[in-house]
Amino acid sequence: MDSQEVASRPKISLRGVTTRFVSKGAVVDAVGPIDLDIADGEFVCLVGPSGCGKSTVLRMVGGLVRPSTGEIDLHVTDPRWATATVFQDYSIYPWKNVIENVRFGLDLAGVPKAEGNRRSQVYLERMGLGDRAKAHISELSGGMKQRVAIARALVVEPEILLMDEPFSAIDAQMRHVLQDDLLEMWQSDRRTVLFVTHSIEEAILLADRVIMLSVRPGRIVADRQVPIERPRSAESARNSKEFAELHDELWELMRREVQSQLAASRTAQEAS
Ligand SMILES: Nc1ncnc2c1ncn2[C@@H]1O[C@H](COP(=O)(O)OP(=O)(O)O)[C@@H](O)[C@H]1O
Ligand SMILES: [Mg+2]
Repeated sequence: MDSQEVASRPKISLRGVTTRFVSKGAVVDAVGPIDLDIADGEFVCLVGPSGCGKSTVLRMVGGLVRPSTGEIDLHVTDPRWATATVFQDYSIYPWKNVIENVRFGLDLAGVPKAEGNRRSQVYLERMGLGDRAKAHISELSGGMKQRVAIARALVVEPEILLMDEPFSAIDAQMRHVLQDDLLEMWQSDRRTVLFVTHSIEEAILLADRVIMLSVRPGRIVADRQVPIERPRSAESARNSKEFAELHDELWELMRREVQSQLAASRTAQEAS
């Protein structure tokens, strides 16, 4: 492989990936087959009906779930900082204070505490929590907890940032603020991001590229570039003609997917 090929190698690559869960004798085909390449620095949103396998795809890329068939390749320079994940439910430790939570991944990697604190403080400030380093988690609102979770993921400077509906449990106003914060941060350091959301609107606002999965087992039914220029703010993107067109197209596709699922479950009911 020459240096140009190395540079153009996808950051994330899925080939023939399927996932089958077997629990208590029941078989669930959750994902695939999926083939997908994500380039270095690309911001990709994964959308699709509830239960179609979005989280499973994200977990596979993060190494938390193993594909049943196929291959996932991450092209990273340092495997220790390959991925960091932000989950929907914050998943921060209530018995640690704010900065201890943010520092967690650095502690695990053996970064000295003073250095860990210094780096954590930088990201707390970026998330507007610079003065809350010593606060207890119980003193924070949902939006603040999610900022802590985002700071904790960013502080390890992962090559790939994985986010699973990180703003779903947050009220609409705070969600808009966090979307804008994320856009601003991403536009300044262009990490590779794979972001799961059930919201087509959120996907278009944030992403370079929106991938829609079918109903379970999730396969790719649409792969669209977002034709809205960068840098963008959520507000300006929301008011553009390009937003409206792509939103309508993807919404129609989603509607058809959900309807096909309803029709299939009705047929199954009638047959039984
Ligand atoms: N660990 C697991 N064991 C058994 N079934 C699972 C497991 N994880 C997910 N599933 C099932 O796989 C399907 C896809 O789940 P998920 O990836 O969470 O969907 P989404 O994130 O799109 O809502 C669902 O039917 C879910 O119940
Ligand atoms: Mg999910």
